[in-house]
Amino acid sequence: NGGASDSKNIRVKLVLLGDSGVGKSCIVLRFVRGQFDPTSKVTVGASFLSQTIALQDSTTVKFEIWDTAGQERYAALAPLYYRGAAIAVVVYDITSPDSFSKAQYWVKELQKHGSPDIVMALVGNKADLHEKREIPVQDGMDYAEKNGMFFIETSAKTADNINQLFEISTSSQF
Ligand code: GTP
Ligand code: MG
Repeated sequence: NGGASDSKNIRVKLVLLGDSGVGKSCIVLRFVRGQFDPTSKVTVGASFLSQTIALQDSTTVKFEIWDTAGQERYAALAPLYYRGAAIAVVVYDITSPDSFSKAQYWVKELQKHGSPDIVMALVGNKADLHEKREIPVQDGMDYAEKNGMFFIETSAKTADNINQLFEISTSSQF
């Protein structure tokens, strides 16, 4: 907690939750490798990746990322991954009302069973699919605000707001 010129190295455990197909793995792939996979396969169980970023003030943040599987059969595994996480990123697909309901389910589960000081971000992904949008930006913003969450819309396809998502979620870690 030193002066502005001190460099710090921070480790942050982050978990992604959300319905199957919303693009969790694509968000992580975009953030970690700068790539997009239009044929991304469903995640089995969970996968782990890490990525270190430097902030403006020479602080480095190492993200330890648990990308969970959204298929229903894996739902019971989720606590293994969100337990102990500093940041939970709950993702929906802006073209899918079902996925928005599922995101709300995960927020409630985190409120009940997550760490009391967990930081939550709500993410509307696939923001590039304008013409198929079903969830207005305002709906995501309102829900996030009511629940004390960060909110951002992203596109893993175009890379829009992907780095910003990880940067904003660390702003609470200092
Ligand atoms: P599970 O592993 O089953 O939980 O799914 P997931 O949330 O990891 O979904 P995944 O990242 O595998 O993406 C599912 C599909 O959505 C793939 O066909 C992706 O190419 C596509 N997709 C992901 N992100 C975007 C995006 O931002 N825009 C568009 N247009 N398609 C996307
Ligand atoms: Mg996946």
